[in-house]
Amino acid sequence: MSKQQLLTPYHKNFSIKNRIVMAPMTRSRADNEEKVPTDALQGVYYEQRASAGLIITEGSQVSKQAVGYVNTPGIHSEAQVEGWKHVTKRVHDQGGTIFMQLWHVGRISHPDFHNGKLPVSASAINPNAQSFTPEGFKDTVTPKAMTVAEIKQTVKDFQHAAANAVKAGFDGVEIHSSNGYLFQQFFNACSNTRTDEYGGSIENRTRFFFEVLDAIKEVMPQERIGARFNPSLHGMFGITVDEETIPTFEYIIKKLNDYNLAYVHLSEPFTDVSDVPFAVTDIAKHFRPLYNGTLMINNGFDKKDGNKVLEAGDADLVAYGKLFISNPDLVERFKQDLELADWDKDTFYTPGEKGYTDYPKASK
Ligand SMILES: Cc1cc2nc3c(=O)[nH]c(=O)nc-3n(C[C@H](O)[C@H](O)[C@H](O)COP(=O)(O)O)c2cc1C
Repeated sequence: MSKQQLLTPYHKNFSIKNRIVMAPMTRSRADNEEKVPTDALQGVYYEQRASAGLIITEGSQVSKQAVGYVNTPGIHSEAQVEGWKHVTKRVHDQGGTIFMQLWHVGRISHPDFHNGKLPVSASAINPNAQSFTPEGFKDTVTPKAMTVAEIKQTVKDFQHAAANAVKAGFDGVEIHSSNGYLFQQFFNACSNTRTDEYGGSIENRTRFFFEVLDAIKEVMPQERIGARFNPSLHGMFGITVDEETIPTFEYIIKKLNDYNLAYVHLSEPFTDVSDVPFAVTDIAKHFRPLYNGTLMINNGFDKKDGNKVLEAGDADLVAYGKLFISNPDLVERFKQDLELADWDKDTFYTPGEKGYTDYPKASK
């Protein structure tokens, strides 16, 4: 049997021992006042999964304003940097590589997180979605449209957070420009009706993202920066695809050829978009020819599909989400062709070790 592509090392801008990536996943376990990850909980969880070629952490808020889910860890304070140091040390001690996902949820947040003040977004348009607040799920509200000064401040917040991630020992960062959060709220016409330099044309709607990327580049090598996109996201988080959506992502991905990033991380559609006008159903195939750098693909892959997408040359790396929740030794299980454990979705976001650090390794 030929060797699985997933298990081969990857060397380009950064070197990783296999092509199996742990996808970023919010687990809502930083249940302390400062939203600090701890050695005993997040440290152990990520260490258990360090055999992945690359771990991308859960989305971590870049500022107090960026938060939108209960008990997610941050990367804006000194205490948070100290907390994350435990995580990076444990992963590195196991020979692993770990990037931090930098997150601002924009309008998916809720006034409950901001002493009653409105969350911010590109425009004052309610996504009509749900926020996961300390008191449970609540309807989203109409956000406040960001002023240019607030946009500039947010650029600085991302830069500060990236510098903190470096201080905390991360090997790189991933900009969370996906899944209907702040950057995608600027990208998509349904959520961005601005008439200034951040709205209207494709160039304007993507300006904020590139300003953030350029700012982060000033504090760390661009070879250590990744960015995540979900071009065919439709009907979730108040985001819809229209005739300008895919051209917007094509513009972004092509422009990223002018950079030398660690990778571009794309998601196949989260819902069936085969009947949605203007959506692309096969994201890896569509975008691969447009991008010269490292392409990571995600969503719904198993071992067979993962090897297949690599063999076809449609991606270089495959990110696995839920399988990594319930199979800390996913790489070994793929290697040995062992049975995979099912995840328990009831404990995705609950506090403590249950459903977090208590999934065992496979017994052979
Ligand atoms: C519990 C959970 C939390 C998630 N949190 C994040 C997140 O913080 N950032 C992100 O980009 N995606 C997040 N996602 C999406 C995953 O990264 C991934 O796209 C999704 O699980 C599909 O991949 P899979 O089929 O391999 O699970 C989350 C998914 C799950 C199940």
